[in-house]
Amino acid sequence: MIDSDQARLSVSLVDVKEGRNAEFLSLARDLASLIVRQRYGRAEVIRDEAVPQRYYIVRHWTSADAAEQCHADKDVQAITAKLYELSRVTHVVNGVRRSEGRAPMDDRRSRVEADRRSGFDRRVNDPGGSRSALGGSQSERRRGRDRRLGPRRLRDRPGQVDLVAAARRARENADAAFSHFKVGAALETADGTVVAGCNIENATYGLTMCAERVAMFKALSDGHRAFARIAIVADTEAPTPPCGACRQVLWEFGGNLEVLLANLTVETGTHRLQDLLPLPFDARLL
Ligand code: THU
Repeated sequence: MIDSDQARLSVSLVDVKEGRNAEFLSLARDLASLIVRQRYGRAEVIRDEAVPQRYYIVRHWTSADAAEQCHADKDVQAITAKLYELSRVTHVVNGVRRSEGRAPMDDRRSRVEADRRSGFDRRVNDPGGSRSALGGSQSERRRGRDRRLGPRRLRDRPGQVDLVAAARRARENADAAFSHFKVGAALETADGTVVAGCNIENATYGLTMCAERVAMFKALSDGHRAFARIAIVADTEAPTPPCGACRQVLWEFGGNLEVLLANLTVETGTHRLQDLLPLPFDARLL
């Protein structure tokens, strides 16, 4: 896990336009050599094996000052402007944000910021770390109890679990006395644990909690901090996508999750959360 006070890492997610890969790679190489030449640090470009045209540019800064100088460098700015022409760039980690001069609460936020902004940094730096952060006591406690009671680690490799089936099962517990619209969700953490949720309604209506947020809050309160996918199930022919409030919460704690939609019999679509919540507000803007 990166402590943002020491971290000197920035990560940008780059979705390159069709047919512009070669141009992008040449620009990325120019950027990387400029960063080394000017002693700002070093940069690497990682291709996303799962998403065509997607890359991550990771910059390791020698210091916060070096990062600032790099951002102010005219040659760097020229390359960046070209990068923006041929791709969509999302900054997922800003490891050089300074916290000096902020109120104590802001300082605390900036410490967790790199961790909260998206799942990406947590996935690469702390796969499963949240479990170890809980220490052995949780597993000891579990051993003595009915193992089926809590969220469990189902597989070592994320992506192997039948998440939709878990969401369908969770839906059966929905308490939807007012809308009669039952929803189930199953959230998969980076270490393969599945945490399920269902919607729970309230006579005041406004206190209703959606299945997705129930799953996310359950997972967070169990110490999970890195997430891979979420499945959402409702008994509708058309897909039931997460509501706006859930998109925001999922984005802030789960990053660019894969979102699987399904009804009781078929899977109705797969999306990336970023596409469902373009131009998101999050801790990067605070
Ligand atoms: N609901 C969810 O749980 N998730 C969604 O994605 C859409 C809506 C719930 C909230 C409420 O209990 C019921 O469905 C009708 O809106």
